[in-house]
Formats: sequence, C-alpha cells, structure tokens
Amino acid sequence: MCGIVGYIGYRNAANVCMEGLLRLEYRGYDSFGIAAVSPEITLFKETGKISAAKDAVNLKGTCGIGHTRWATHGVPSKTNAHPFTDCTGKIAVVHNGIIENYAELKRELQNRGHTFVSETDTEVIPHLIEEQYAGNLREAVSKILPLLEGAYAILVIAEGTQEIVAARMGSPLALGIGDNEYVFASDGLPILDYTRSVVYLEDGDLAEVTPAGYRIYHDGEEIVRKVSTLEWDAADVRKGGFAHYMLKEMFEQPEVFSNTVNSIAENPSPLCRLRDARSVTIVACGTSANASNVFAYLMETVCEIPTRVVLASEFKYYPTPKNDVVIAVSQSGETADTIYALKIAREKGAKTFCLTNVLGSSLTRVSETTLYTRAGPEVSVAATKSFTAQVAAFMEIVNIISGGKLEGAVVEIQRYLPEVLDCDVDKAVELVKDASTLLYVGRGLSYPIALEGALKMKEISYIHAEGYAAGELKHGPFALLSEKTPVVAVCLSGITYPVMMSNLKEIKARSAPEVVIGEIRDIDAEEIADVYLPIPKVSETAGVILASVVLQMLAYKTAVALDTDVDMPRNLAKSVTVE
Ligand code: F6R
Repeated sequence: MCGIVGYIGYRNAANVCMEGLLRLEYRGYDSFGIAAVSPEITLFKETGKISAAKDAVNLKGTCGIGHTRWATHGVPSKTNAHPFTDCTGKIAVVHNGIIENYAELKRELQNRGHTFVSETDTEVIPHLIEEQYAGNLREAVSKILPLLEGAYAILVIAEGTQEIVAARMGSPLALGIGDNEYVFASDGLPILDYTRSVVYLEDGDLAEVTPAGYRIYHDGEEIVRKVSTLEWDAADVRKGGFAHYMLKEMFEQPEVFSNTVNSIAENPSPLCRLRDARSVTIVACGTSANASNVFAYLMETVCEIPTRVVLASEFKYYPTPKNDVVIAVSQSGETADTIYALKIAREKGAKTFCLTNVLGSSLTRVSETTLYTRAGPEVSVAATKSFTAQVAAFMEIVNIISGGKLEGAVVEIQRYLPEVLDCDVDKAVELVKDASTLLYVGRGLSYPIALEGALKMKEISYIHAEGYAAGELKHGPFALLSEKTPVVAVCLSGITYPVMMSNLKEIKARSAPEVVIGEIRDIDAEEIADVYLPIPKVSETAGVILASVVLQMLAYKTAVALDTDVDMPRNLAKSVTVE
C-alpha cells in the first residue's frame, strides 16, 4: 500500500526519492509524486509506473519527499496523488495511513477559506499546518497532530527551509542515518543504498531532521531512540538475473528454509510458553494464514496441543479464550488486520507472540515476544519464500516441543527443495492456462497447501481458483466439474492417500481434467492423472512442503504464459495497512 520516502543531505533529493519509490513499488500503488525544496517547493505527480516517468522528473534541491499512493479516498489520478500543499504552495506533505475525521476537518477548513483540489483525506494536513506555521515547522506540525484521528506516517517540508519534519501514529516510518544525509522510508528497503543505521519511529514520535542532524520528540520532550542495523543487503532487493522477483525468491527457498530452521533452533527460549499452553490461536491473513494452518495441523497431531487459525480480520468477532496463547503471523509485520487482532488479544490478557520477517515492524511493537523468519526482503507481491520460511519456523517449533519428531522431515526438505525447484510444469500449464475456474484439492496436511496453491494461482494469473478439502467436493463444488474445470490435486502417501485416490476417481468420473502432484513412481496416481507432477518419495510432512513449491511454479509459469504482471498483480498491495 502507500509508501513514503524523504531525503535530506547533499544529493539530488528527487532522484533519491524516485529510487526509493522504485524500492517501495512492491507494496502496490497506482500513482506517485515527489516534492523538493529549492528554495520554493516544486512538485511532480504521475499515475502508472514509476519507471516510465523516471526521466521526466527534473526537480532541484537536496531536501525532498516522495510517495506511492494506493487509492483509498478518491480515484487514482494525478490530482489525488501526493504530495499535497497548502493554499500558498509553501508547505508539502506526504502521508501513509488514513485520517478518519478528515471530512469534518475539511469542512471546518473550507469554512475558514481554504480551498481543496483533491478527494483525499491527506490534503487537510498541509492546510492545518499552514494555519499554525510562523517559521517553525516542528512547532506547527506538533500543534496539528492532536487534531488528527486515525493512522499516519507523515513527512512535511516547507519553502525556504532545509528540514523534514516527520510524525508517526500507527503507520510505519524508519529514518536511515547516513554520513551527512538522512533517508526516511516506510520500510528499510529504500534506505539500504545509503546506510544500514536506522531508527524506527514509535507511535507518537515527531522527528526533525536537517543536514546537521536529527532530533526525536515524544510528548513534547526530546528523546533518544535506539539505532538499529538493517540486516538485509542492497543486493537482496535486486532481481539478480531472474526474469521476476517471484522466481528469484522461489529459488532462494532452500537457503531461506535452512536459515529459518537454524535461527529458531538457536533461540528456542520463547517456545517454552507454547509447551504449557492449554490452547493456541493463530491470527494471520492470506498466505500467512495458510502457513499457519500447516502449523495448526502439526501442533494438533504431533504435539497434541489444541490449535486453531482465525483469519485476523475475523478475530475481533470471536471471544478470546482465557489463558490462550495468541500468535500473530505476518511476513511484513505491517498488516493492519493482524496487528489489530494481536492488540485485542493482548488487551484481553492472552500471552502474545508474533512471527514476522521484518525486524522492527509494527507487529513487533504490539507483541510481547517476537520470533523472526529469515527470508530476507520479499519484493514480489505473491508470497513464496516467506511462506516456506514460516513453515520452516513452525516445523522447528513443533520439532522442539515434540522432542525431535520432525527432525527427519526437516532434513528431507533441506535435501530435496533444490531438486523440486527444477520441476517441469509445462504440460500442466497447458492444461490449466485457458480455464476460467480451477479447483485445488488436498486432505489433512495437503489441504492448506491446496488453499495456498489456489491463492497463488488466482493472484498472479487472474484465473479463478479455489482450494477445497477434497472430501468437500461432493457437498457442492461437484456441480462445477466438467471437462472445462481442471482440478489440481495433492495426493501423497500417508493416512489421506486411499481416500484421496477415491476422490481422484470421482473427479475423473465427472470429466474434469486432473493435474496430480504425487510421489515419483506412484503408478496408480499417475494412471488417473492427465498430467502427473512427481516429487521425491519422502515423509508426508516433507512431501506437502515440496508440493507447495511445485504449485508455486505452476502458478508462476501460468502467469508468465498469460503475460500478466507477475510481481505486481493488479489491485494488490504487498503491505495491507488498512483494515
Ligand atoms: C499472497 C499474499 C497475501 C499475504 C497477506 C498477509 O501471496 O502475499 O495473501 O500473505 O496479505 O500479508 P502478511 O504476511 O505480510 O501479513
């Protein structure tokens, strides 16, 4: 969703902001804009792709701010793109978040003579600052912040000054501290090219940055915030010769899996709480929820600890069981639904954990204890390596709690992941790419993998795909089956195998073409399948994870065949920061 960048130092601020916005592209956006001071404020705004407009930006000055917008209030257009200025054009603001009381503030400002150009909530901010500004930008910003209801990370610049004033409440904001230069950004990626030293602003913080240094204030008092080190490398956020970030990230999975398993194994202390838990609730969205369902299955079957997954956006409508452990799972650590769910759980007295991929993300501030996946930056909107990293963390957690029962499966995954990445899915792509609906089915541990396979397919290929527990097909979805409705099935040995084989026959009897992921040399499954995608013969737990990688490849290659925007699918955002 929206991303912000700001630069102050000795380089051309507009160029730094454009590079930064490119780094934030993965979050999703429909328009973007930049403002720079030199000494008056100049603006550039555009809709569409940042890369297409790169050469058109020609703003002077070494102090500037930029923004990628993902439309919430008002259509995607140049007029609704940030930065916004006040009536005089002397103050410019970029904003990430939502000002809930903007309509009321706007009416009041209009009554006092302010004119507005956009439909956005953000535009009230520069007008409010204009009313307070008498030469001291920090003072003016601090006076208007109490009027804003909702969530914000804002950057403000003013004509004739060399400073950026920033404030955070509920939306992420980091300040990179370089040598005589400073970079603000919604996350660490735009900062990496300039420095690894970063300060994560907390809710209620206000920062004032000039070329000479920075100060942070909280409740009017100057305070000191810890300087952290960004662990990721600038090279991690480049495509490195791959056609798409998604493909690159898929090929990183063997390393990501091992790194995450090792990091959980080296720091097992927070897991003791789970051992004593009467029950565990996981809150997550999308792919993170699918990975969490793998965990729930393993917790129940291997550790015998009751574990449920509640979609984070639904959690507020459920009672939180007393003495429950609540784990929030989120790659970005910025998903509003997940953060809100964890806040509620904590207020209700649950013990809270989070599992995230992003150091210092908002979720880590809400949670009592944080565990990290070691996936590195995930740029492609479609989550792949972060899913595998979450599964790796969960498997190692279950392994530790159960006294080593998943040791073998972990080793099998480490051994066979590189081989599975070489899978040939071309015939399967031919079979599915022209369908308008696909069904994905599995049972037991393969069921969340079917859900994830369908999610991956629909989000990047735009083919309608639904995941079902295979046993549910006859309770309704059978009506969809025909020779035009391919079914993708995960059929591995284990307790689900015999009945899964019956399901495959039932599907065949209704003329639906079948793509089956099964074990190598399973002649029976191979015979039923129209296209058979074999994986190595391993334990069921390892097998489903290997199968999930084959499903990622199927989605990826189908999207490439259909020529969609693989890394940035339409209407989607990487970081979903609104509820
Ligand atoms: C799917 C995908 C989304 C995210 C979901 C949660 O490929 O990426 O479904 O999984 O938006 O995001 P996080 O894990 O950042 O909370």
